[in-house]
This record gives sequence, structure tokens and C-alpha cells, in this order.
Amino acid sequence: MNITARTTTALDRHDELIDRLPPGFRWGVATSAYQIEGAVTEDGRTPSIWDTFCRVPGAVDNAENGDIACDHYHRMPEDVALIRDLSIDTYRFSVAWPRVQPGGRGPANPAGLAFYDRLVDELLAQGITPWATLYHWDLPQELEDAGGWPQRDTAYRFADYAQLVYERLGDRVVNWTTLNEPWCSAMLGYVEGVQAPGRRDFAAGIHAVHHLLLGHGLAAQRLRAAASGPLDLAITLNLSTSNPATDAPADREAARRADGLGVRLYLDPLMHGRYPEDVVADLAARNVFLPVQEGDLEIINAPLDTLGVNYYFSLRASGVDEDGATRDAAGNPVNRGLPYGLPQTALGWEIMPDDFRDLLVRIGRDYPGTPIVITENGAAFADKADADGFVRDDDRVEYLASHIAAVAEAREAGADIRGYFAWSLLDNFEWAYGYDKRFGLVRVDYETQRRIPKQSAIWYRDTIRRVRGA
Ligand code: NOJ
Repeated sequence: MNITARTTTALDRHDELIDRLPPGFRWGVATSAYQIEGAVTEDGRTPSIWDTFCRVPGAVDNAENGDIACDHYHRMPEDVALIRDLSIDTYRFSVAWPRVQPGGRGPANPAGLAFYDRLVDELLAQGITPWATLYHWDLPQELEDAGGWPQRDTAYRFADYAQLVYERLGDRVVNWTTLNEPWCSAMLGYVEGVQAPGRRDFAAGIHAVHHLLLGHGLAAQRLRAAASGPLDLAITLNLSTSNPATDAPADREAARRADGLGVRLYLDPLMHGRYPEDVVADLAARNVFLPVQEGDLEIINAPLDTLGVNYYFSLRASGVDEDGATRDAAGNPVNRGLPYGLPQTALGWEIMPDDFRDLLVRIGRDYPGTPIVITENGAAFADKADADGFVRDDDRVEYLASHIAAVAEAREAGADIRGYFAWSLLDNFEWAYGYDKRFGLVRVDYETQRRIPKQSAIWYRDTIRRVRGA
């Protein structure tokens, strides 16, 4: 037996694919303001819907909140140095609306804007490209009190805010994402009530979808008008596949509906300037209507430079409940998401890189012409830190490698994917799951706020350096 021969591991196979990514591929990490910043009452910041939601008994695991989080507001230079040391070229962060425009209306708060000004300067000084997301779920509470995203006025407030941030940072920031995962804002926030503001009203959620998209389009207009230099404008959507659970007609219909509400309801107006007819008909059957006014779809259909895709997992669509019924008590068609029975992350999300590849190939095929960047992908696992705080997270390394390999495969199958951003730089406040679910490449010891790069951070750094050829 030849004892020096190495067996080819799954990781080697992923590496072979990853190595076919071009040297100019963009490598990033992402975070969001409320999940890492803390300092929620400093320098004039006012509450967002998440500050409020975290105070609702039972809303967040262990009654946790973002008051301190990773204390990034006070440790920003240290965190930027971490990104630099990992050879990451792009940092996707979000701007906290209630920090820079308290209450969501009126003039900018100079002290709040100054933080992002310093962040951008620090990133550029360290050779890192800043990628700003304007809305990562922290709507100023005053705007929610006035009706929130189901109200049309919120779209105009968002456009004003976007302009004000762009006017301050646009001379140095080229890459802008308007909204992060509007599906989550609308469906989890206004329909299912599991995220802020915690409302449960289907019609309100559908109204929110339209006003989020309108806000995106209006903000895009403002940024284009204000830009005097290069501007790369994006929106980030969380997308997944919706395969029918079985070949039965009810399941196929459920798959069509799930794809309609999860993918086409956003991408059709953004890319083609129209809402999907089948979704509009399904909504009408429930007496729910998208509040479209004359000219809205042209605004929403404004040219996009980049489509940001966040991917975590998918479910199979079933149109039949446990008792075999295809209608619920209210007479609406049953829509259930069923697992495939695959291994899961700590959030119970199934690990399905092949599905990621299929999704990207499909998006590239159905919505061609707009370059794609994976603006988030990653996994929470039950990390075990050793005495030095080091986490040997082989599970996360395997997750990242298999998903980046899927990106490489999708590219070769025709999807125009230009970059990949890992979620997340740091362990952070995972919304309704609190701090227990850790997504970071870097461990945060919340007692001391010490940052300790995990094995996955080292693997990511070495992978980036290898592909880049440096
Ligand atoms: C998507 C969201 O944008 C991000 O805020 C969240 O932490 C990750 N998914 C993981 O759930």
C-alpha cells in the first residue's frame, strides 16, 4: 500500500472547482448595523423597530437585544483590521437609518453620519472596498408609528434618507445596495410577525412589498441623479428554489405559488417592470391587491448594475396539509414548506449546495443581463471554543467550500456571478434567535468583546489568496 497517497476529500473536490474562479472574483464579508453596532442611544440615534420589538416579551430568544451587540460602534478600527488581515477585498455593511436621520425624517444627524464617514475612510485606508446597504431592517420607530412599510409615504421617506447618506459617502463609496431582503421585511415583519415590527396581516405585508420596491426605485433615482462619479447600484434578495414535494397537482401548484411570492414577485417588477400575472390573480382571489399607482412600475424597473443574492436554504412546496386537505380554514390554498431530510445547520436549515447552484443557474437564465453577487451565504453551527477561544469549525469550512464550489459551477453553467460575501464577519445578534446562533468567521466572546478568528476565517483567507494568485 502506498501510504503517502492522499485520498481525495470532499474539500479537495470543492477546492478544484473554487480554483476555477477568476483571479478578479470579488471576495467579501457582510454584517448589518443593528446586529453588530450596539451604542443604540449614542450620538443622537433614536429607536428602530428592532429596539422596540426586542422589548416585546417572547419576541427574541432569551429576551436579548442589540443594545451592545459586538460593540462595533466603539471597536470599528479593530474590526476593519480583522477584515484586512483576512485578505478580504470588500466589506458589506449597513447604515442605520435611525442613527443618521433620527425619526426617519428631516435633516441628517451629523454625529451619526460621521461614524460611517470614519468607517469608509478606515476601509479605504486598509485597501478594502466599502459596499453600503441602506436598509437592513432597522426602520425608525416613528415611521412604523405612522404606518410603516404598508404606507406609501415610507417609500418617499426612504428615498430622502438614501439621498442624504449618498451625499455624504458617495464620493468614496461606489457600491450601494438599497434594500436587504425585502421579502423578510414584508413577510416575516408584517405577515408572520416573527421579526420587527411583529405584525400579522397578510394584506399589510403585500402592501409593504410594493412600497419597499417603490422605495428601492425612488432611492435608485436619487442616487443616479446625485452621482458625479462611478456608481454600482444593487438590491439584495433572499432567494430559494420551490420544487414541488411530489408530482401531485396540488404540490405543483403550491410550488408555483411559493416561487411567485418568493422570487417572481420581486424580480419580475425589478427586471421586467411588471408583477407576475399568476401572483396578482392569486392575491385577488384573497381580495388582496398590490397598491400600484401610475408610473410605479417604471420607477421600480430602474436599471440595476448588480443583483445581490442571499442564499441559505430551500424547502419543498406542498399544497396538502397533514390531513390531506388542500384548503385551510379560511378557504385559502394550503402552502407548506417541507424539508428534504438533509443535514442541517444549528438553525435547522438544510445544507444544500446543489440547490444553490440550481437556483443561480435559473436566476441567470430567467433574468439575464444583470451581474450577480452573492451578498450573503453562511451558516450557524454549535461552535465549541477551546481554552484560547479558538473554534475548529470544520462544519463551517465544509459549508463555505461546498457553497463557493456551487457558485463556481453555476458560473460555468452560464450565471454571471462576480463575487461571494460570507455571512458574517463576526458572531452577532441573529435577530429573533439572539446571540446563541453564531454565524461568524470570527468568534466574539461577548463577556470581553474579544475577537478570535475561527478555523473558517483562516480557510477563507487562504482560499482567497490562492484564487487571487497572490
Ligand atoms: C439574512 C439577513 O440579511 C441577515 O441579517 C441574517 O443574519 C442572515 N440572513 C442569517 O439569518
